[in-house]
Amino acid sequence: MEQHIHPSVFKVSQEDRSRRLNQRSKLIWFTGLSGSGKSTLANAVESRLFDQGFLTYLLDGDNIRTGLNKDLGFSDEDRVENIRRIAEVAKLMLDAGMVVLSAFISPFREERVLIAQLVGEDNFIEVFVDCPLEVCEQRDVKGLYQKARHGIIKNFTGIDSPYEPPLRPTVHINSDQEVLQDSVEKITLSILNSLIY
Ligand code: ADX
Repeated sequence: MEQHIHPSVFKVSQEDRSRRLNQRSKLIWFTGLSGSGKSTLANAVESRLFDQGFLTYLLDGDNIRTGLNKDLGFSDEDRVENIRRIAEVAKLMLDAGMVVLSAFISPFREERVLIAQLVGEDNFIEVFVDCPLEVCEQRDVKGLYQKARHGIIKNFTGIDSPYEPPLRPTVHINSDQEVLQDSVEKITLSILNSLIY
């Protein structure tokens, strides 16, 4: 299908856009179980970076699974496609010069390695939001774990669908042990230098 596509040469480069925005574009990828605190944390980090003058954008279930990916469910195949599309969107946004954050379970290690390869290893910052299943299940903010335990929802991550934790994340957050502001601080400190021109 791709054989008759001939890439055109753009006059404005990624470097040009980055310079205009005075920032280096990066993808900050949050991964973890449902209820681990990914979205809350990604939101807080985005807010911090935005306040510091960076142009940011947060991709998460609210703006992706209700729009671009509303045709996808939670089978292994659909999750892989979910992440593939998000990674391609993130790649475009990096090309546009943005600092992109994403908060998806993204349960498969291999998929996350592919994202890093797609956007370039140097542009990929993996944040593991680590929270024991028992704690996520006890919080059960959306009531979904209970439904999964009763078989009302199938293929639920951690219950009847796997989660493969990162082996060497850039940042490892134990969200059940740290207060939010400390985690935000830790993430911001470890990435700030790489965003500055
Ligand atoms: S991913 O696995 O494809 O990365 P994604 O982050 O987009 O998942 O969506 C996860 C969110 O969808 C969960 O936080 C939860 O609110 C909801 N959800 C609905 N069904 C499932 C399911 N079977 N497994 C996990 N999350 C589900």
